[in-house]
Amino acid sequence: MLKNKCIVIGVTGSIAAYKAADLSSWAKKQHADVNVIMTENAQYFINPITFETLTGNKCLTDTFDRNFQYNVEHVELAKRADLFVVVPASADFIAKAANGIADDMLTTTFLAATCKKLIFPAMNTRMYENPITQDNIAKLRHYGIEVVEPGAGYLACGDTGKGKLLPVEDIEEHILLNAAYDHDLAGKKVLISAGPTQEDIDPVRFITNHSTGRMGYAVAKNAARRGAEVTLVSGPVSFPDPIGVKTIHVKSAQQMFDEITAISDEQDIIVMTAAVADMRPETVSSEKIHKVTMPDAIKLTTNPDILSYLGARKSENQKVVGFSMETENLVENSRLKLKKKHCDMIVANCLREAGAGFGTETNVVTIITDKKAEELPIMSKDEVAEKIFDFLKAD
Ligand code: CTP
Repeated sequence: MLKNKCIVIGVTGSIAAYKAADLSSWAKKQHADVNVIMTENAQYFINPITFETLTGNKCLTDTFDRNFQYNVEHVELAKRADLFVVVPASADFIAKAANGIADDMLTTTFLAATCKKLIFPAMNTRMYENPITQDNIAKLRHYGIEVVEPGAGYLACGDTGKGKLLPVEDIEEHILLNAAYDHDLAGKKVLISAGPTQEDIDPVRFITNHSTGRMGYAVAKNAARRGAEVTLVSGPVSFPDPIGVKTIHVKSAQQMFDEITAISDEQDIIVMTAAVADMRPETVSSEKIHKVTMPDAIKLTTNPDILSYLGARKSENQKVVGFSMETENLVENSRLKLKKKHCDMIVANCLREAGAGFGTETNVVTIITDKKAEELPIMSKDEVAEKIFDFLKAD
């Protein structure tokens, strides 16, 4: 996902420095050109050879390297970098960067680089919370450098509090948000629904379905990585909230309808991946709970059809996308749904196909618009998400 991207990873003196090795290895596997620059103190925690082996590039450590080529290299690297991340960033590095100090290879290259810069602090809580560090962070942010809030928890120094390096997977997502795509959805507002709904029968039991939310979360992540302002309205799922996405949690179809329709008018693209229950049990008071133990005692009420509502009132510039799950006549039934619900696109999955539908990592879909029906080969849900926006753009 980072093909042809030059990612510079600055590593400073913190016990968390070893985690930068995992990050470098991941970035290399994403086909990035990964260049690591270490401060002198970082080398007490991890050896430059580790990074050289993982990235295949020389690990830069010293501005006064007698090899002339590397002296030039750091300026050249500053020009070439698509993204500069500092992982972990010590209080000392943050102080230097905030004040334009350039006294080693890392700070010099950092000052010379004009690309997007991300800083991931890791330090003792007292150092992090010190107003001097906080002022330095505010100053960096003022200059457009993103300083990502560290995590909180038990720190290596024995204290508990803020200052923990974010998990490597979170740092990876920040890198993807900034460098994986050309931000072709920048300035667009995208709303996505995901997961199942849970329709309460009584305070103990509910009706739901097999949706895991994986497809919708993939769509939300893809939109965010392409630079959109993304809101995800999610039913109950087991995934963490995607980074860079505003996530609103709901349970029932009615709650999903309320949250979506409150903000739908201002959206450019709406993608309904949620497996919304068509019906819900009539509300039963808690005193009558013993009377609904038999399924045939449950009276059903119709839920609002959110996609139909959105399709009927969509504006000229708005795109509305629905999903359909079919067991037969996939294209025919989906095309009917496209017309009935006034959508711009239906992403149809056949539940009989291996590798498609609920709970799988992959999906087999046919993208259906007014003009065409294109069956895509089996692919990951991340790839399907990418195709949806590619098709919308091309339409
Ligand atoms: N959908 C919705 N609100 C509902 C039911 C479905 O917004 N109450 C949306 C889904 O999110 C999906 C699309 O409608 O994008 C199609 O869902 P599906 O369940 O396949 O269609 P239904 O309209 O329920 O038709 P049927 O179950 O008869 O196939």
